[in-house]
Amino acid sequence: MKKITLSILVLFCVTMLQAQTAREEFVLEKNWKFSKGDYPDAVQNNFDDKSWQSVTVPHDWAIYGPFDRKHDLQEVAVTQNGETKATIKTGRTGGLPYVGIGWYRNTFTVNHFKKGEKRVSLLFDGAMSESKVYVNGKEACFWPLGYNSFHCDVTDFLNTDGKDNILAVRLENKPQSSRWYPGAGLYRNVHIIVTDEVHVPVWGTHITTPFVSEEYASVKLRTEIENSDNNEIRIVTEILDADNKVVATKDNTLKINHGKPFEQNFIVNNPNLWSPETPYLYKAVSNVYIKDKKVDQYTTRFGIRDIKLIADKGFFLNGKKRKFQGVCNHHDLGPLGAAINVAALRRQLTMLKDMGCDAIRTAHNMPAPELVELCDEMGFMMMIEPFDEWDIAKCKNGYHRFFNEWAEKDMVNMIRNYRNNASVVMWSIGNEVPTQCSPEGYKVASFLQDICHREDPSRPVTCGMDQVTCVLNNGFAAMLDVPGFNYRVHRYEEAYNKLPQNLVLGAETSSTVSSRGIYKFPVEKKANAIYDDHQSSSYDFEYCDWSNLPDDDFALADDHDWTMGQFVWTGFDYLGEPSPYDTDAWPNHSSMFGIIDLASIPKDRYYLYRSIWNKNDNTLHILPHWNWKGREGQITPVFVYTNYPSAELFINGKSYGKQTKNNSSLQSRYRLMWMDTVYEPGEVKVIAYDAQGKAVEEEIIRTAGKPHHIELVADRTELSADGKDLAYINVRVVDKDGNLCPDDQRLIKFAVTGEGIYRASANGDPTSLDMFHLPQMPAFNGQLTSIVQSNEKEGELIFEATAKGLKSSKITIKAIK
Ligand code: GAL
Repeated sequence: MKKITLSILVLFCVTMLQAQTAREEFVLEKNWKFSKGDYPDAVQNNFDDKSWQSVTVPHDWAIYGPFDRKHDLQEVAVTQNGETKATIKTGRTGGLPYVGIGWYRNTFTVNHFKKGEKRVSLLFDGAMSESKVYVNGKEACFWPLGYNSFHCDVTDFLNTDGKDNILAVRLENKPQSSRWYPGAGLYRNVHIIVTDEVHVPVWGTHITTPFVSEEYASVKLRTEIENSDNNEIRIVTEILDADNKVVATKDNTLKINHGKPFEQNFIVNNPNLWSPETPYLYKAVSNVYIKDKKVDQYTTRFGIRDIKLIADKGFFLNGKKRKFQGVCNHHDLGPLGAAINVAALRRQLTMLKDMGCDAIRTAHNMPAPELVELCDEMGFMMMIEPFDEWDIAKCKNGYHRFFNEWAEKDMVNMIRNYRNNASVVMWSIGNEVPTQCSPEGYKVASFLQDICHREDPSRPVTCGMDQVTCVLNNGFAAMLDVPGFNYRVHRYEEAYNKLPQNLVLGAETSSTVSSRGIYKFPVEKKANAIYDDHQSSSYDFEYCDWSNLPDDDFALADDHDWTMGQFVWTGFDYLGEPSPYDTDAWPNHSSMFGIIDLASIPKDRYYLYRSIWNKNDNTLHILPHWNWKGREGQITPVFVYTNYPSAELFINGKSYGKQTKNNSSLQSRYRLMWMDTVYEPGEVKVIAYDAQGKAVEEEIIRTAGKPHHIELVADRTELSADGKDLAYINVRVVDKDGNLCPDDQRLIKFAVTGEGIYRASANGDPTSLDMFHLPQMPAFNGQLTSIVQSNEKEGELIFEATAKGLKSSKITIKAIK
């Protein structure tokens, strides 16, 4: 194993460094060794790991497959879905081999390390799961929950004088421990933090903005200092704006008494307030001195913003009422699995932003820090949630095994990690926990809510509740800051009237199901619709029996002041939970709830949300596609998702009349629908009219001819040559005129040359068992997505796609330093 040298600095530099920064942080990414299986001897320094696989971290050991129904075959009754009898469930966790034990090993050196002078901590952003961390043969920390960040001080286990330290991590995923694909392994970053003895501990600052106005804001910073031994501490903190201009400074000297944090208060005049539309960020840079020696420098990024709840009126940000236009997302990144990647997250958020989405609920667990930072920067409000299970089980080997001992520690880590992030506006303490119906359940909720209030009095607390009758009657809902309901839209009004908060949040909404590019006839609203091809219809009329269509949630937001908006289940399709095909319906293994599919291609529903949520751009989207060989002469309804109030539809020049949004049904309030259109090949044209009746925009789709060539559209033309950056390439089978061939399912092969690598592909088909990392994938309804990654060299990356019977295509992407 190659040795990692953390900081090679000549003595002079070290002296300078101590004078300047006194803190160093490194991410341990490269030269990891990994093996599945249990190797108790791997903790020993002399263990031979040569035969183990070399990997970089973040790493997800299960995403390379293969898919197999036996990986997560379960006989269970999913009580949350109203089931009372156990049945065979397949694909619940994605059918990937995440279960089992895996070991990782690496070496690190802390130069010039001397006991008594430096402290060294390891910080894991998340490790799936039940992590046992060993340094030089000694157990340094244990953390059961795979989603949470945790840290441990390993100073006492380190070798002195620059000798290699062996880090070994054992992870174990028990069968039946999850309701979705959790990923496996060191799927988030591992940091090494080197500080002086006297230092700001991990997550040791807490910033709040107790008063916010356009004229000025007050900023309160609390800083913890470790090992100060009751010495006098001087902290000089500068508040910097986004241009790094100092806007406030404080220089204070204090004793840290009885562990009480060091407090500094600032006024920032004419503050730039943070909001999804103006994600303005400040930094507090604190230099810590003890007897004139600088011992630490710590930077805390934050935003200035004000959040308020007003009974009967809803949620206010910076004094302005707004309703959450949010989505719930699981943590996996489709074909990349759970391994965190900033470019992949940025891509997701960019698509959601264009849809008009302004909020994310991290369902049902702690997010990666990179996601929270991107939400700060790109402008998304976050509701962060730790648990899907408290003390009562949903999964046989779920978190309930740890809840009593670990819940408080998990909450504390989560809150301290993210309490300074501007994007985080609310905590959720859990999702559909069975405890909500137990007579003592409110006590558990109150225990968790109190931890939130203690650690962070500035944010309200909610919980995703689905057992409406229980929680309205047993006091559970009444004790939360915000009653958050999952589905059950017909109970909102009752909840509003019965509960003292006089507010209702759609903590989880919709769960409409659809497969991109699939349309079923006749077009009917249906719960639990099942078809032989194991797909769901993209007319967006199908849902599960506990869920509903998007229109119900739009109406609740539009019609009542007291609704706080919603978090749609889900923004993106995810691995696992293939409802309505979860009962012995292999090969389904990924969700169909997403507004965007697993290949990160928008489904039609994307445009429905965009037409309501995106207030800056127009939307005019026609569905279905118009290649219906065999349906000639048959009724083939056409829907248009648009922000315009009305539109006229023409098929091959013949008008099918003008439709205007109206209140005759929830669907006709938000969609334009021509239910009697008859299929004939050719052209479907729609002309949109504004509120004044003026024709303002038109859109055309055409019947595609014979598949002719491959079209490649990359989301990026330039990548950073950092070995991590990604481009998503939309691979499309088109006819000679460039029309998408929407029923083409042929195999496409890929090759990457030049500076970069092929990373993965996905086609969004929830039944596809093709492995993501292999350089081939069948198109699903004419499309798929390939992901390429930069290496660390500048140059050109060339991606080529070929398929039998089609003209191939190439695309060049630049990688720059
Ligand atoms: C909810 C649950 C989610 C997901 C969803 C599917 O009840 O909170 O995790 O299972 O249903 O509709």
